[in-house]
Amino acid sequence: MADFLTKDKRTHYCGNLDISLVDQEVILMGWAHRRRDHGGVIFVDLRDREGIVQVVFNPDAGENVHTEAHKIRSEFVLAVKGKVRKRPEGMENPALKTGAIEVIVSELEIMNESKTPPFSFDDEEISENVRLKYRYLDLRRPAIQQNLFLRSRLAAATRRYFEENGFIEVETPFLGKSTPEGARDYLVPSRINKGTFYALPQSPQIFKQLLMVSGFDRYYQIVKCFRDEDLRADRQPEFTQIDVEMSFITEEDIMNMMEGLMKAIFKACLGKDLTLPLPRLTYAQAISRYGKDNPDVRFGMELVDLTSIVKDAGFKLFSEVASSGGIIKAVKAEQASALSRKDLDALKDFVEIYGAKGLAWARVNAADWTSPIFKFFKPEEVKSINDAMNAQEGDVIFFVADTPRIVNDSLGNLRIHLAKKLNLIDPDALAFTWITEFPLMEYSESEKRFVSTHHPFTSPFLEDLPNLAADPGKVRARAYDLVLNGSEIGGGSIRIHRKDVQAQAFAALGLSDEDARSKFGFLLEALEFGAPPHGGLAFGLDRLTMIMTRAESIRDVIAFPKTQKASDLMSDAPSKVSIEQLMELSLKIVQ
Ligand code: AMO
Ligand code: AMP
Repeated sequence: MADFLTKDKRTHYCGNLDISLVDQEVILMGWAHRRRDHGGVIFVDLRDREGIVQVVFNPDAGENVHTEAHKIRSEFVLAVKGKVRKRPEGMENPALKTGAIEVIVSELEIMNESKTPPFSFDDEEISENVRLKYRYLDLRRPAIQQNLFLRSRLAAATRRYFEENGFIEVETPFLGKSTPEGARDYLVPSRINKGTFYALPQSPQIFKQLLMVSGFDRYYQIVKCFRDEDLRADRQPEFTQIDVEMSFITEEDIMNMMEGLMKAIFKACLGKDLTLPLPRLTYAQAISRYGKDNPDVRFGMELVDLTSIVKDAGFKLFSEVASSGGIIKAVKAEQASALSRKDLDALKDFVEIYGAKGLAWARVNAADWTSPIFKFFKPEEVKSINDAMNAQEGDVIFFVADTPRIVNDSLGNLRIHLAKKLNLIDPDALAFTWITEFPLMEYSESEKRFVSTHHPFTSPFLEDLPNLAADPGKVRARAYDLVLNGSEIGGGSIRIHRKDVQAQAFAALGLSDEDARSKFGFLLEALEFGAPPHGGLAFGLDRLTMIMTRAESIRDVIAFPKTQKASDLMSDAPSKVSIEQLMELSLKIVQ
C-alpha cells in the first residue's frame, strides 16, 4: 500500500507530465475535474495548478482501487500512483497539454470528499455574484490561476529590477492621516483616542517624500492603497501600487528608469521585447488628437478640428456654436458600410452620455453625402470638409459642436466605441504613450475654485510660475502619466521641494497657510529641513496585470476582490458590528 504524503511524495504536477515520462511511475495529487465511466474502465481528469491529466482506473487494477474509484465525484481530492502510458492510437486529445499520454493507476487514496460545487469550472457563463460568493472555488479555474501566476511574476520582476538599480523597499503605515490624492478616505476610528480617526492611505505619497527628505534617495514599495470612490471595471476600493520616489533627478531620469522597468516586466512576464524610448504626447496634443488624456493609440481615427472651415458655412447650428466660443470637431470611420442608418442614428444616444446635444453624421459618396445635414452645405463646403477629413467614398464622418470639453469628451469616447464596434483594435498590440505637461490646476465648477489636477505638491514648470497668480489654468505641471492601450497605468510628478514655490501653489489653490498647515503640516515642516529635489511615480499593478492577461475586469486579477458596490460577497464585508464594539469606540449609528 502506498503511504501518500509521508513516504510516497508527489513526484510531478499533473499538467507537467509529457511523453518523455512514458513508462515511468508517477505520484500525483489533485482534484477530480471530471469522471467518466466507460463500462468498467473509469477515466478521471485529475487537475492541479499546472493543468489536467487523464488518469485511468482499469477493472484489473486491483479490487480495492477500482471499488474506490467508483466513489469519486467532482472535486474530490485524490492521490494516485501509476504508470505514464502513451495514449492508444486515435485516443489523443490535442486540446489538452498532456493529451498525448495518460496515467494507468495502480494505487488510489481519496484524501477528501467534496460537496457538489455550485458551478462547473468549465462553464464560462456563471454569474459573477456566484463566482465571488464561492471565490475559493472560482480560484480553482485555470484561467484565473494563470492571471495570479502572472501577477506574481510581475511583482517578482519589479522587485528584481529595483534591487538591481539600488532602490530600497520601505513599508509605510496604513493607519495614518488623510492623504491628498483627491478621492474619499476610508476612515478607521481610534479606540484609545476617542472621537478621532485614522485614514487608510490613498497612496504613500507623503511618506515617500519624507523618505527623500531623510536621504534614502531611491525608494520603492509594492503597496496597498485605499480609495472610497465609485468603482468601474478598472477600479477597486483597495488596489496595489508599484510606488517609486527618487532624489536629485529630473522627469527624464524618472521616465527612463520607469521605461526600463516596463521592459523588464514585459520580458519576464510575456517574453516581449519593448522598444525604448516609449512615445510621448503632451496633454494638449492628446486632447487635440484623441479627445482624452489616456488615449488608445493602437488605432488612428484622430479627431479633426473643423471650426475654421464650418464657422462661416451654411449650417447655422455649427456657425452659432463657433461664434459663441465653441468648437466643431469630427472623427472619421473608414469604409464603414457595416454601420446601418439605424446604427448611425443610435450613436446619438452614445455621445449624449458625455453631454453632447447632438451627433451629426455624413456618409461620403462619390459626389455628395448621405446625411441629415447635407442640405445645409454648399458643394464647395462639402469638398473642404472631405479634404480636411481626407475622406474617401464609403467613409462616415461624425461631427459634434459644443464646448471644447464636451466635444473632446464625446468624440474621444465615440472614437473608441466605433473602433471596438468595427474591430479596428489589434488585440496583440501594446501601445504605450507618456502624457506630459498636464495643467497644474483645473477650475472646479462645483467648488468655484482651482483644484490640483494631481496633488498639491506637484511642481509647476518654473517658466510658467509668473502665471500662477493671474491665470492658474495656464500653468503646466511637471507631471507625467503612462498610458497603455488607453488605460492610465501610472502617473507621477516632480515635487515642489522649496517652501516659496509651495506657498505660491497653495495660494493659487485658495488654501490658507493655516489650512495647509493643518492638512500637510508635517510634510511642509520637513520640506524646510533641506529637502532634496525629488519626484516619483506610481503604477497601478492591478491595471497593468489586467492588460497583460487581457482580463475584462480588474476583479479577474485580484484574488479576493470587491464588487461594484464595494462589498465582499464571500465574507459578507462590510457588515454590522456589535453594540459593544461601537461603545468601545464611542460611536453611534445615526439612521
Ligand atoms: P495616482 O492617483 O495617479 O497617483 O495613482 C497611480 C496609479 O494607480 C492606479 N489606480 C487605481 N487602480 C485601481 N483601482 C483604483 N481605484 C485606482 N486608483 C488609481 C492607476 C494610477 O495611474 N501618489 C501618486 C503617484 C505619484 O505622484 O507618485 C498617485 O497615487 O493606474
Ligand atoms: P436639426 O436641424 O436640429 O435636426 O439638426 C441636424 C443634425 O445635426 C441632426 O442630425 C442632429 O443630430 C445634429 N446635431 C444637433 N446638435 C448637434 C451638435 N451640438 N453637434 C453636432 N451635431 C448636432
